[in-house]
Amino acid sequence: MIDLHTHILFGVDDGAKSIDESMTILKKAESIGIHTIVLTPHMSLLRPLISPKHVIIERFELLKRRAFEQGLKLNIFLGAEVDEHDHLVQTIKSGYTIHQSNYALVDFSMRKADVSEAIYDLRHSGFEVIIAHPERTKYLDFLDLYRLKHEGAFLQVSSKHLAGLGKRRANKMARKLLKENMIDVVASDAHDVHTMLSMKKAYAYVLRKKGKEVAERLFVTTPAKILDSKVYQQ
Ligand SMILES: [Fe+2]
Repeated sequence: MIDLHTHILFGVDDGAKSIDESMTILKKAESIGIHTIVLTPHMSLLRPLISPKHVIIERFELLKRRAFEQGLKLNIFLGAEVDEHDHLVQTIKSGYTIHQSNYALVDFSMRKADVSEAIYDLRHSGFEVIIAHPERTKYLDFLDLYRLKHEGAFLQVSSKHLAGLGKRRANKMARKLLKENMIDVVASDAHDVHTMLSMKKAYAYVLRKKGKEVAERLFVTTPAKILDSKVYQQ
């Protein structure tokens, strides 16, 4: 499996607090069959505990070295989860995408926004938009998500909601999105080791409900395509 959305880079947001905690989560990820993981610290003007880019890069290099020294086989990449804000295109242009691709992971749940307009602006600037856990964004109902998908957005659902471990509305919406074949990618959004474990449970759930081909597409093939996509050139 590939995990495109995690907060396990230590000390840069509200996720892992120490390098040891990051390592514990990485080891757990490898043990449940994840071979590639993207670290996506929050990039936001609306939250506390956000770190400047040079700190993020420094810690990313440190963690990668530690993982290599301890024999982990995981591919570890850097990305970002960007909260929707007034200068979204500008921020994403300054390098906050998934592993330097033209795919941006955007969280629209922090404030009510014109999501269609944001997607239009980003796509017009050459980016593809992955909506982070849309099942959690209360002002977007199923039909809104249907429309946004048809406007070109990718939908990333969190594994804990498919596994039935989140809040009731989000769990229900995640499962409806699966039922209606609306999900592009499943990722953990792990801030700790317990959430990481839900990837295994969610894979089993998708396998049971939709079969192997769909499970592989949501957990492996589509995330791999995103990581392999054209590198964004400024
Ligand atoms: Fe997140």
